[in-house]
Amino acid sequence: MDKKRVTDEQRLLHGGDYNPDQWLAYPEILKEDVVLMQKAHTNTFSIGIFAWAALEPEEGTYDFEWLDNVIERIQAIGGRFILATPSGARPAWMSKQHPEVLRVDASRRKLLHGARHNHCFSSPYYRKKTQAVNAKLAERYGNHPALLMWHISNEFGGECHCDLCQANFRKWLKEKYTNDLERLNDSWWGPFWSHTITDWEQIESPSPIGETAVHGMNLDWRRFVSHQTIDFYKNEIKPLREKTPDIPITTNFMSDNPAFTPFTGLDYQAFAKEVDVVSWDAYPAWHNDKEDTATLAAKVGFLNDHFYAMKDQPFLLMESTPSGVNWHHVNKAKRPGMHYLSSMQMLAHGSDSILYFQWRKSRGSSEKFHGAVVDHDQSPENRVFKEVARLGQTMEAISEKVVGYQRKAKVAIIYDVENEWALNDAQGFGLKTKKYGETLQKHYQAFWDKNIAVDIISKDVDFEQYDLVLAPMLYMMSEKTAKQLQAYVEKGGTLVSSYMTGLVDEADLAYLGGWLTPLKETFGMAPLETDTYYPTDKNSLEFNGKIYDIKDYATIIECDSAEEVATYRYDFYQRTPAITVNHYRQGTAYYMGARLEESFLTEFYGELIADLGLTPPLDITHERGISVQAREANGLKTVFIMNFTEDLQVIEINEEVRDIQTDETLSGQLALDPYEVRILEKKGWFVDSNDQLSL
Ligand code: GAL
Repeated sequence: MDKKRVTDEQRLLHGGDYNPDQWLAYPEILKEDVVLMQKAHTNTFSIGIFAWAALEPEEGTYDFEWLDNVIERIQAIGGRFILATPSGARPAWMSKQHPEVLRVDASRRKLLHGARHNHCFSSPYYRKKTQAVNAKLAERYGNHPALLMWHISNEFGGECHCDLCQANFRKWLKEKYTNDLERLNDSWWGPFWSHTITDWEQIESPSPIGETAVHGMNLDWRRFVSHQTIDFYKNEIKPLREKTPDIPITTNFMSDNPAFTPFTGLDYQAFAKEVDVVSWDAYPAWHNDKEDTATLAAKVGFLNDHFYAMKDQPFLLMESTPSGVNWHHVNKAKRPGMHYLSSMQMLAHGSDSILYFQWRKSRGSSEKFHGAVVDHDQSPENRVFKEVARLGQTMEAISEKVVGYQRKAKVAIIYDVENEWALNDAQGFGLKTKKYGETLQKHYQAFWDKNIAVDIISKDVDFEQYDLVLAPMLYMMSEKTAKQLQAYVEKGGTLVSSYMTGLVDEADLAYLGGWLTPLKETFGMAPLETDTYYPTDKNSLEFNGKIYDIKDYATIIECDSAEEVATYRYDFYQRTPAITVNHYRQGTAYYMGARLEESFLTEFYGELIADLGLTPPLDITHERGISVQAREANGLKTVFIMNFTEDLQVIEINEEVRDIQTDETLSGQLALDPYEVRILEKKGWFVDSNDQLSL
């Protein structure tokens, strides 16, 4: 599919989820909304997300009049709308009349009507009805000049274990294993605890009641759930593609919460191939009591770089809150300045929008105290509204310099959700300490601290575009990936991997006969065994004259051509290699046998960054907590400097730059208030038609 971008006359999108269907009995509020939308400097609204009951109040009877009116008002103020398909929540009549749409949980309990995001992905009736309502929406609004894009359903996720889904699971397995039960049993290690399958009908999805121990089956079930969800989505978009081929399509992705790591419910890297534009919903718990602002900001950076890399193009922030949410453990208000800063970070990492959940706080039900642009006081004068309006003004001013601008990274970290599924299932190592997503984020932090751009990529992209590739904890690795990594190093790439890498194949079956040959050759060593630590266990290593603590894991290594970078200081493997380096053909491969504290990662990667000549977008000296990220297009770079600390920071800019908001030329010392952001353009970064360096 062609890359499609939602540029909307080169303006950044500002606005968000608007639920007028909750306010149809309050016409004065609907009128007031558009007045407030202008005051807030907003321009784009996602509508109809949960509006099925209003769109089809009884089976086969549609009502679009209210939506016509809402759209007309948005258009009248020069706004655009993102039209949602309503399948994220269904009307009560449907659950009553067609109970097949109700989801069945893993314990085989059929859920009652209520809540949302709980339909069956197989139900033929639900698939037919979503197509029908989507076709009506496309017919009515497909040519509307203010229609910007389609928003399919909402935050797809979860799984259904009903009979229809069981049958589809078996069908999917038959295709995968070419109707050959022997192949399935081989892959699932069937004889283990007598799990050999002798008839396809014996196969049931994993249930917590049976606590299934068949890891191959668990993995296939997760793959099936992902496949079935994407298939449901593809079914939904058919009428839209037919009737509105030029309108881009997205569906809003999310993160795993509260850890704020990549979402593990679905294979988003596969899903992203089916959307035109990636969009996601970000709800970091700013000001929490477990981590400082900069640490959380780096996690946000990681997720942004993950969503960006899925299509290697700008994404949309589909939802965020201008203040607090209602579902964190503690729903803290964003401190003054934080909303502006956190939104700028999104733009800096490649978002073309800042959209909110929600435009207006609902009056009743569970989201009545969730943050919104318009509070129950309905005032444009409160702190949150004013901060949103200030952000909107800035976005209007900088749009031209940001919309559609690209990011380019020379460093990549491989994230693989199937690997995470398999790792989490693995009975062994530390049951609670594997933390794949968090571990990758710690490695990422070492680059974020130094303002080096990173792509969070799938294992299927071309590694050769990167100078440095990190593949920590890539436990489940196909021989194909091992060979691709080898080829990457062979041709001059630098690769870093770690403990637990390359232990099982795509079916989650352990490799026999030691480590894979391509890995042995690339790293010039082999992992022999991995020791797992209690929190009180102590070990350490020395690197560059400093001692660093080891936590959770320590792999004992046998070196072949690899050299020791550091050795274990204690235990029965004292003085044996903990970290190795191998110069293989034109490239270099490092293996980190141990999990190390963050200061080690900073030191280790700091050295690699220098060796590889990786440079940040701006030559700047600062304390930890300042982040510099850039986007570029047409030879022009826009650089965001962001202060993610609660302190005034004096930074040193070692070159000449121009502030695009104030037009000042800056160089040398610059004071940044807590949470302050400066948006700069770098002098002489592009060559004009006379080959003159110019601004
Ligand atoms: C999202 C969801 C929104 C809203 C929001 C609250 O996960 O898509 O509809 O519920 O959370 O933070």
